[in-house]
This record gives sequence, structure tokens and C-alpha cells, in this order.
Amino acid sequence: MIDPISGFSKLTKAQKITWLSKTYLNNSRESENVLRQYWNENLQLQTLHDEFTENTLSNFYLPFGIAPNFLINGNLYAIPMAIEESSVIAAASKAAKYWFTRGGFKVEVLNTTKVGQVHFKYKGDFEKLERFFEFCKPELLKAVSGITKNMEKRGGGVLDIELRNKTDLMENYFQLHCKFETKDSMGANFINSCLEKFAETLRSEASSYPEFTTEEKNLEVIMSILSNYVPECIVRAEVSCPVHELADVKYEDATGFAEKFLTAIKIAEVEPYRAVTHNKGIMNGIDAVVLATGNDFRAVEAGVHAYASKDGTYSSLTQASVDNGIFKFWMEIPLALGTVGGLTNLHPLVKVALEILQQPSAKNLMEVVAVAGLAQNFAAIRSLVTTGIQQGHMKMHLMNILNQQNASKEEKDELLDYFRHHTVTHSSVADKLEHMRGSNSVK
Ligand code: MEV
Repeated sequence: MIDPISGFSKLTKAQKITWLSKTYLNNSRESENVLRQYWNENLQLQTLHDEFTENTLSNFYLPFGIAPNFLINGNLYAIPMAIEESSVIAAASKAAKYWFTRGGFKVEVLNTTKVGQVHFKYKGDFEKLERFFEFCKPELLKAVSGITKNMEKRGGGVLDIELRNKTDLMENYFQLHCKFETKDSMGANFINSCLEKFAETLRSEASSYPEFTTEEKNLEVIMSILSNYVPECIVRAEVSCPVHELADVKYEDATGFAEKFLTAIKIAEVEPYRAVTHNKGIMNGIDAVVLATGNDFRAVEAGVHAYASKDGTYSSLTQASVDNGIFKFWMEIPLALGTVGGLTNLHPLVKVALEILQQPSAKNLMEVVAVAGLAQNFAAIRSLVTTGIQQGHMKMHLMNILNQQNASKEEKDELLDYFRHHTVTHSSVADKLEHMRGSNSVK
């Protein structure tokens, strides 16, 4: 039985590792060394990473790469991506190259409104609450003027506060449903600070509102928090070309390809089991850019998947059509992103990622991220309806298998060449390697 530890966060990093090693790692020197091995030599940089969060023991690397040749609204981008899955950057790069010669990606941010809510309980007359809300609204706005001042200078702020009656869902449940414009910041701190001030003001104004009974004056705030569901913060990305231009070495029959592609999208529209995997592929592209640019991928994931269910069933985020001989493939998704604040001006690699993207505004970043998602989905569907996914996927995974087998540089070079023309599976790689090693030891 392991004893709980108190005051763990107060220990030094070395003490934390010693405790961990003794308690959970069987005093393994090897595990301790792995943790230390990932520390950065630059003490200042390491301290910065240590302080991003609590109880930091080490750093967790993810590959940081770029997918070049993305033609987006006529400009050429290299998209930074942080991702461990071997085929994602290759797939994005292929899709970029494919659409480069077919007009590129067209993107548009449709709106940028974010939402936050004060959830409260009120036992009493609704019409009275409505009158109170109208009376109180200017006070709510006044109460946040200190918080909104700078945001307003940048063209953002509180857009609207609405009283919502939710008593059909839960007894005595009401909300202040608030809308915000947060310009280039993701806005979580700004929104939550405003909401908490709204809540405080709502409570104190209610307690002295002359029309309220004692029970009504005791309006109870349950919580105040932004929503990661942002269906009014939408970006639309699209590619299109004449059907006959879809032909490629992979598939000469462009019409047949277009038909199969549309059917694959339709399947993801009507079948949730497929839709989840289909959308996961889109998120491969989206998360990788969101992470590389220091944004909150959990917020994006939650919001995007909720949006995929907006019509009552979980469905495809992308759509495709063929009209008058034109193939069109597009996606509209909600994305709450920032290019100022948070990690964006702290994490050195994030700063480089934003530099690669030419210091984008939040809107520009929404465009790039949406394109990465659409490209990823195009590449996945294209493989799925032609060669199948495993051929490309296993080719990219080959290096991981070789590393698992401790292949030397020479072995890797030889096998990478060999598997250019042979099917990659775990066993085919292991067999070939064993065979090579056997014949080398005979020599
Ligand atoms: C794998 O990470 C993503 C795919 O499964 C997406 C898809 O099936 O569309 C290839």
C-alpha cells in the first residue's frame, strides 16, 4: 500500500524525482535518467518550461515539422505542425502539392463571436426577473469597464448579454448568455474575468432590488465560465476544380474517383461510426497546427465535435459536391484561437511557428488551421478510396518499426530502399532485418 504524500508541489524537482522513483519506479536509475535526459541544457529555457505547469519533472517532446506548398487565398504558406503520428505531415504536404496545381485553398472567416455564461438559480416570478435584468444590464456593463477597456481599444469587448430562461430543462435554472469579441486573443481569461464580475454584480444588485421578495433576492449564482462551443466563430475552407482535373497517376478515372469520393463523404454524413474516424482524421491536421501555435487543442476538439453533432446526430464535418462538372470539397468549423496572450508569446517554438506563418492575426490562423484539417481529410479519403490507407501509413511508420528493432543507420538505408517496392508490415520488416543480420554474420 502506497502512502499519500502531502506538500509534493513544494519539493524541488530532484526531490520529486527521488520520491517518484522510490515510490513507483522501483528506484530505477534508468527511468530517473530518462527523465533527466530530456531536461534542456539551457537553464533559463528549462525553467520557463518547468513553470508552464505544476510538478514538472521533465519535458515531453513531440516532433515539430512543416508542411510546405500550401496555396491559401493566393498566398504560399508552410504550415508548422506538432504531431507524433508518422503519416500526418506527409499527407498534408501531399494534399498541399495536389491542390497547388488546381487553384489552391479558398478560406473565409464567417464570424468570430465567443460565448460565456453565468448559470444561476432564481426562485420567483420570471417577469420580475426580466424587469430586474433590464434594470441591471447597464450596471453589469459598467462593472466590467476596467476589464474591457484595453480589449475595446483593440476593437473587441462585450457584444451582448441576454437573460435566458432554462426552467424547461431544470427547475429555477436561468442564465446570462453573453457574447464577446476577443480579436487576436483566444479570450478565455478575458471572458471568465468579465463573467465573474457579471455574477458578482448580478448577485449584489438582486439583493437590494426593491421589487424582489426575500426569496427572489437570494438569487444563487452556480458558476460563471466561457463556453468552448463557438458556433458563431466559424471558418469555411474549400477546394474545387473541374472533375477531369482530379485525374492523377494514382487514379486515371477522374469521374469514378469523384463519385467514390462523394460516396465516402456521404457515408461519413449518415454513419456515426465512420463520422468519428473521418473527423478524427480532420483533427489530425487541426490539432497539429493548434498545438504548434500554442493554442488549446482540448478546447478546439470539444467545440468541433459538438459542432459535428449540431443537427442531432454526429456527422461529417466536411462536405463534397459535383455540379456542372465542378468538384467541390469544403468544411465549416468553429475555431476559437489566439495569436496573442497565453503561450503564444512565451514558448520559443510557438514564437517560431507564428513567425513561419508571418505573424498571423487570429483570423489568419483560423484560416490556416481549417485548411490543414481539410487537406488532411482530402488526403485520407483519397487514399481510402484508391490504394487503401495502410500502404502510405505503413511506409511512414517504417522508421518507427526499424527503431523498435534497433536497426543501424546502414540497415535503415537498405530497408528504406527495399520497402519502397514491398509491402510494409511489422513481420515483413522484422523478417527482412533478421535475414539481413543472418547473412551479414555468415559473411
Ligand atoms: C488516422 O489517424 C486517420 C484516418 O483514419 C482518417 C480517416 O479514416 O478518414 C486515416
